[in-house]
Amino acid sequence: MDMVRLLQFSDPHLFASPQGSLRGVQTLASMQRVLAHAAARRGSVDALVCTGDIVNDEPDGYAHFAHALGGFGKPVYCIPGNHDDPARLRSALAQPPFQVGGHVDLGAWRIVLVDSCLPRQARGHISGTELAALDAALGGSERYAMVFVHHHPVAMSSRWLDAVGIDNADEFFRVLDAHPQLRAVSWGHVHQCFDTRRRGVRLLATPSTCAQFLPHSNEFAVDGRPPAYRRLALQPDGTLETEVVWVDEAAGELASASGASA
Ligand SMILES: [Fe+2]
Repeated sequence: MDMVRLLQFSDPHLFASPQGSLRGVQTLASMQRVLAHAAARRGSVDALVCTGDIVNDEPDGYAHFAHALGGFGKPVYCIPGNHDDPARLRSALAQPPFQVGGHVDLGAWRIVLVDSCLPRQARGHISGTELAALDAALGGSERYAMVFVHHHPVAMSSRWLDAVGIDNADEFFRVLDAHPQLRAVSWGHVHQCFDTRRRGVRLLATPSTCAQFLPHSNEFAVDGRPPAYRRLALQPDGTLETEVVWVDEAAGELASASGASA
């Protein structure tokens, strides 16, 4: 495998009812529209990653996710979000093409999936067990590495969101900083696009496949931007290219952003 091509989907917030909606968006139909767009380029994709909030507090929604993503024909790597039920998620997605947590090697890269959830809490925390597993996964390979996690480990310049990020991000970064082959960390949870660097590591947030949050808002506010997903191309030399693809229903077409802050 030369280049590794990933699609990151985040925060689909599915309900038990196929018609369930969040902030005016029917979440299943919205995710299906995003997948349909991505499927048009399926031949150039190696795997999918979903960074949490697969359901919106209704575990019966996992069946919709399994049906929709299972038909894509590619491995699907998942982590839970704060609106997920981790036990139900793991049982609903226990069989291939799904994998929940752990790590996987693809070409010259190791992909590590980190669980940042606390029971019944919106904020995130990386447990000692998860920190140790992360350290072992990053230390156990010479490959370049990319980490996926649900919650944000850095401030998003948004007071309400910054209260629900990873509350022990310093411990998270202490592990990450010990592994120089790490190239990128990408998360969901914040329902917006974000792209920066820290000590040479790309830090990315991926918007939701349903409704978005307004960047840089101190109070909760919904953004009018359309559903989106992220494309990632991980190169054999350790560099990566990425873009966020906004799937604009009104235009019936898509608009791409370079990954800059929305
Ligand atoms: Fe979410």
